[in-house]
Amino acid sequence: MSRKVTKAIFPVAGMGTRFLPATKAVPKEIMTLVDRPLIQYAIDEARAAGITEFIFVTSRGKSALEDYFDAAPELESSLKRKGKTELLETLQATNMESGAIAYIRQHQALGLGHAVWCARRLIGDEPFAVILPDDVVAAEKPCLQQMVEAYEETGGCMVAAMEVPRSKVSSYGVLDVKEDMGNMVSARGMVEKPAREEAPSNLAVIGRYILTPNVLNNLNTMKSGAGGEIQLTDAIGTELENGRDVYGYRFRGQRYDCGSKAGFLQATVAFALARPDLRGEFSQYLDEMMSVRNAAE
Ligand code: UTP
Repeated sequence: MSRKVTKAIFPVAGMGTRFLPATKAVPKEIMTLVDRPLIQYAIDEARAAGITEFIFVTSRGKSALEDYFDAAPELESSLKRKGKTELLETLQATNMESGAIAYIRQHQALGLGHAVWCARRLIGDEPFAVILPDDVVAAEKPCLQQMVEAYEETGGCMVAAMEVPRSKVSSYGVLDVKEDMGNMVSARGMVEKPAREEAPSNLAVIGRYILTPNVLNNLNTMKSGAGGEIQLTDAIGTELENGRDVYGYRFRGQRYDCGSKAGFLQATVAFALARPDLRGEFSQYLDEMMSVRNAAE
């Protein structure tokens, strides 16, 4: 099987309950980090990694996402007329090639594994990436690109991994490490949301994966696992049981959990401070806030 990865699945069918009431009307993936929706960061990362086919697994209430990727001819010509070249370029950078995006519905939120399985007919017999847009990774070289390059050497399945405090392991899929090669580990097993005392390590899986089509076959027969959901982690774990390789890749970069309020706020501050047009004013404001707060304590 070729090791070229050209397709990516974006599972965006979750209900985003942690952001209610906003997510009653706005899909989580459209919420903006500074001035770009989360999904745009995910698309840009995928493009940088060489992805040319983008598969969205959506659900009811996510039509704003489909609209976002539509062309906006009126807006474009209005910006053109007014000579707003920079804004026009920003807008045009979000345009997608016709036919590059496919939408599949997950009719019931049965879990991440089930969402990925819903895209099986669009994958065929080739490796594919999975990107969870609510995990945002700030990195010099985009996270998926790092992984695609590593995957060309290893094959197998690869998950992005990072060390987390022991107290947090129960929020993640966790790797049981067979061999530690530094920026990469080979896994012996994987467990979804283990209790702290049962976690095989503190090396947690975050929302970037490169998977082989075998994983989709494993999902064909998958029963629900942790939290009553069909877990992607379990389907990847089955690869290990079948004697195939699974690697954890310690990416270089800072990951933000934009599926949680605290993570989203942290990402907002970090991304704003990284922007030359905002940094000065914003950091001055933060300094003032902190001194007022410190004085009050
Ligand atoms: P989360 O666990 O963050 O769930 O899903 P959620 O529904 O998005 O958010 P909360 O927990 O209710 O606030 C992780 C990723 O898996 C997708 C989500 O869209 C998100 O990208 N997902 C999850 C699905 O596509 N389908 C599912 O059935 C479950």
